[in-house]
Amino acid sequence: MDLVLATTNKGKVEEFQKLLQQLPVTIKTLADFPYIGDIEENGATFAENALLKAKTVAVATGQLTLADDSGLEVDYLNGAPGVYSARYAGEEKNDEANIDKLLTALDGVAEKERTACFRCAIAIVDKNGTAYQTEGICRGLIAAQRVGSGGFGYDPIFIVPQLKKTFAQLSATEKNRISHRGLANQEAVKIISSIIEGENNENCNR
Ligand code: IMP
Repeated sequence: MDLVLATTNKGKVEEFQKLLQQLPVTIKTLADFPYIGDIEENGATFAENALLKAKTVAVATGQLTLADDSGLEVDYLNGAPGVYSARYAGEEKNDEANIDKLLTALDGVAEKERTACFRCAIAIVDKNGTAYQTEGICRGLIAAQRVGSGGFGYDPIFIVPQLKKTFAQLSATEKNRISHRGLANQEAVKIISSIIEGENNENCNR
């Protein structure tokens, strides 16, 4: 069975390929369907954006599709940058500028008020158009300055309190175990397994 990942992001594709390797699926990406083009992410929530992408691609390809959307929510900023995480400091989606803007917005804010979470929503739409959704959350604190050199995006300023480290100080394996994306992906694997099982049973009963 083909599984289309509604992304062209190479990092995400590699991450999903690792996670889904035990499943009998052939991974396709938007690069295999260039006629689909850019999908505008205009939802108010991560879940809405993930579902919008998954539905659009499932309808266009007729295949089982998975889409995700993620970002950072800072409590002191009433959930900002939220769905605007990638373009918080402008449309050019610059990670360093985004971090600078966030550190400035939290300048002088006490540690106990710097709580935040990363959220990842995943939507899966099967060949019949049935949608399944899951979400992963990772809570932490926004640091006063960058620490660590790994990862991407806001990783250098996101502290995991129980590890006393930022995401940028963790290995990919350590981060995947606790991250919003890792947790959402674990659920997604279970959903896809049960869809495949359902389809196999249907084929046997024919
Ligand atoms: P998207 O899921 O690719 O749309 O990600 C949106 C944005 O959220 C990214 O460009 C990052 O700025 C931020 N983001 C999402 N997940 C992470 C993460 O694991 N670490 C750091 N930043 C993240």
